[in-house]
Amino acid sequence: MDVEQIRRQALEDLSKASTTTELDQVRTKYLGRKKGLLDQVIASVPGLPPEQRRAVGKSANDLKNELTRLLDEAKDKLSQKPPAAPRSDPTLPGPRLRLGHVHPLTQTTRQVEEIFSRMGFEVVLGPETETEFYNFEALNIPADHPSRDSFDTFYLSPGVVLRSHTSPVQVRVMESRRPPLRVLAPGRVYRPDTEDARHASMFHQVEGLMVDERTSFADLKAMLFIFAREFFGSETKIRFRPSFFPFTEPSAEVDVSCFRCKGKGCSLCSGSGWIEVLGSGMVDPAVFEAVGYDPERYTGFAFGMGVERLCMLKYGIDDIRVFTQNDCRVLSQF
Ligand code: DAH
Repeated sequence: MDVEQIRRQALEDLSKASTTTELDQVRTKYLGRKKGLLDQVIASVPGLPPEQRRAVGKSANDLKNELTRLLDEAKDKLSQKPPAAPRSDPTLPGPRLRLGHVHPLTQTTRQVEEIFSRMGFEVVLGPETETEFYNFEALNIPADHPSRDSFDTFYLSPGVVLRSHTSPVQVRVMESRRPPLRVLAPGRVYRPDTEDARHASMFHQVEGLMVDERTSFADLKAMLFIFAREFFGSETKIRFRPSFFPFTEPSAEVDVSCFRCKGKGCSLCSGSGWIEVLGSGMVDPAVFEAVGYDPERYTGFAFGMGVERLCMLKYGIDDIRVFTQNDCRVLSQF
């Protein structure tokens, strides 16, 4: 191989080397002592015809210098450090923190609590795991009565259920205290319902209970009227429709005048001008007996409402599943 061939090959090898290890391999191949290609050429010089010795020796040495320079340059380039990061500027404003906010259901619950607490109600809590006694029997729902179907729930073990309403909290409070009582019990409840836009197997209710010596249906009407106006707007009207609940007698379902069409009839109220919002009634004497209150001495009222329903009505939400899907694009709007 003559020097010119070695040069071409060396330049090609050099152009392919992309790591320092590969560069070292090229260096050894061409510039290595004794075994390197150029040293071999130089070693062969004394055996050449005298007129060639000078030229071959010179070009071999020139190539040695050139390759040494090119290899050094290539190595420098590879090991060059990235440019130093710009120094931070402590006078710039910091990154904005994205703050979360209160879930719409919690907002709604708090609003209900706030309205009733101004009427003297105290917030109390009860367990989500209940016994059949508190969820049913103490509320005058016997095992063989058809009304038990409306409050059916999940059984954890015989006699132990996930509460299907917040009404058992009424019983727990009355068992542990004496009248006068004004309590509000918010919380989760469970029903074996198939999920769709209007049903969920877990949802929230707020229960209200007032017991005293002369609590009347007029007190119930007045307080629910105040609640409806505070929650749905000052022009809201209410109406009571006779109904049945095992734990109240008489019982009533309460409608509010449609706050969207002001009672004229629209899609929200299905044309009727009224929207059902809660169940209520005077505490059944059988419930007082179950907790050891004298039904001749005490009277009381109770009511229960669905938090999801209140929230959906108020904000025009048409699918109950948005509350549990945790999609911040939806939740951040409330
Ligand atoms: N517990 C009932 C339900 O889940 C709601 C209810 C109705 C509660 C009437 C009450 C009441 O306290 O008086 O459907």
